[in-house]
Amino acid sequence: MTQPQATATTTAPMVAATDLRRSFGTGERTVHALRGVSFSIGRGELTALKGRSGSGKTTLLNLVGGLDAPTGGSIALDGTDLAGLNEDGRLALRRERIGFVFQSFGLIPMLTAAENVGVPMRLRKVSAAEREERAHTLLALVGLADHANQRPGELSGGQQQRVAIARALANDPGLIIADEPTGQLDSETGRSIMQLLRAVVRSEGVTVLVATHDPTLMELADRVIELRDGRIVEEEATGQAA
Ligand SMILES: Nc1ncnc2c1ncn2[C@@H]1O[C@H](COP(=O)(O)OP(=O)(O)O)[C@@H](O)[C@H]1O
Ligand SMILES: [Mg+2]
Repeated sequence: MTQPQATATTTAPMVAATDLRRSFGTGERTVHALRGVSFSIGRGELTALKGRSGSGKTTLLNLVGGLDAPTGGSIALDGTDLAGLNEDGRLALRRERIGFVFQSFGLIPMLTAAENVGVPMRLRKVSAAEREERAHTLLALVGLADHANQRPGELSGGQQQRVAIARALANDPGLIIADEPTGQLDSETGRSIMQLLRAVVRSEGVTVLVATHDPTLMELADRVIELRDGRIVEEEATGQAA
């Protein structure tokens, strides 16, 4: 199977969105979830996407992650225009270049933490020995070295989200997309998850785009993009570096 290869150049931003639009439905019932959104995100940045419920955050993340296609405009990841990829190409890109983190963790209940982290590597046919070694390295990175053999039901919400972050890192992606990863956690645990994402951006050089409507978490981001009714209303550099 031939996949369009990424034509990454060192100068391309990790994410470049140009006049991105997404509407759902037709006629009077059309919902304009995104009404022309343009931005770019450089490598190794932690960008927070804020905005009320219904402002278009999930729609935008789905487009950036190749889970959905725009009604108009374009999106390029690391120099690859997603419109130029077929479904197989998008699937390969999602598997190999992007890690996803969700509000509800999305772990497989029957698998141990280490096995959950191994799932994306399995899909790439990485050997069992290599999977196990990398899973343990990643679980140590997220502070769960001693929990590798526990199943999700035996872990707290914050621990489950740490496993999900380790899993998102499994294939060494350039980009991690997290949709309200702290939405099911108490504020202190949520903050520790944001701090972990912050640390991972630094240590792994990964780029993170995270939707959240928790204002206390914004200060940990390099940059905040705010959506309101499908448009960017303000962009601010927080200058955070601690
Ligand atoms: N699949 C869909 N079909 C119809 N409307 C949708 C769909 N997905 C999202 N929307 C609408 O698009 C708008 C933005 O939704 P969403 O991106 O989920 O916002 P957020 O994640 O910021 O809460 C909302 O009005 C929502 O109802
Ligand atoms: Mg959402």
